[in-house]
Amino acid sequence: MRDSRETFVNHAFVTGYPIKHSRSPLIHGYWLKQLGLPGSYKAHAVSPEGFPDFIASLKNGQSGFTGGNVTIPHKELAFALSDRPDALSTELGASNTLWIEDGLVHATNTDGHGFSANLDERAPGWDQCQTAVILGAGGASRAVIQAVRDRGVKTIHVVNRTVDRARELADRFGPAVHAQPMAALAEVMTGAGLFINTTSLGMDGTEVPQIDFTVMASSSIVTDIVYVPLKTPILAQAEAQGFATVDGLGMLLHQAAPGFEKWFGKRPTIDETLRQIIIDDMASHA
Ligand code: ATR
Repeated sequence: MRDSRETFVNHAFVTGYPIKHSRSPLIHGYWLKQLGLPGSYKAHAVSPEGFPDFIASLKNGQSGFTGGNVTIPHKELAFALSDRPDALSTELGASNTLWIEDGLVHATNTDGHGFSANLDERAPGWDQCQTAVILGAGGASRAVIQAVRDRGVKTIHVVNRTVDRARELADRFGPAVHAQPMAALAEVMTGAGLFINTTSLGMDGTEVPQIDFTVMASSSIVTDIVYVPLKTPILAQAEAQGFATVDGLGMLLHQAAPGFEKWFGKRPTIDETLRQIIIDDMASHA
């Protein structure tokens, strides 16, 4: 879209239902300002019934958007309705980042990139372990399994209360991935080098099981994709047992960067000021 000065101004969205609690506008707004770019990034609520029409309005240009982010509950539909989903989102069956080229909606999923880039920054060498344990087999664990597998970790145990959900993911992501019941947790953690929580355990007032991290390799890294609170009950347990931990906030920040570059043409950086802006926002809504 051109403004009155005939410069190219891009407009991006984040859509979900509900969407008002999304922190993405804070992140992209910070980068637009920091890089001195014109354009906008706004939360745009779209109901599930209205989502097909929203995608149609992207294709025919009526929306005025260059692209945007998609979050719960639209990630699967965004993938299904896009014209050019990439290989990552095709394997996941879900997309979180869209952009329009020549009237076609392109789609990718940057959650896995966010996960890996956060660990690259905070725990370099994390991907050199032989065995990883992923707790949880919900929607959020899929991109994590894909990312860990794509970095070449040979054995990935997906441990879940409902083991059938873990089995579905083992089938989807191939022979490196093994489904395990909760009862096998201690056994599969023994000697492992990476532990990732993708569940909401402890977030809703439910009791968190006591986990013995000391069976893992002493150089192990423990991370959580939940970032509210920053120190989740599982990270607190691991830290108390002497393990290096990485919180999930960096995953949120890093997953945003590829979309920003697509829509606004510049690769943003993730700095401490941005991290603090999100931490302050979390505190103000606590
Ligand atoms: P998300 O898309 O955020 O991953 P989800 O699909 O509802 O959300 O998945 C939540 C994950 O947390 C699941 O792995 C769930 O286990 P089940 O598949 O057995 O439901 C796990 N989870 C949530 N509460 C749990 C609890 N109290 N004990 C063990 N696992 C729990």
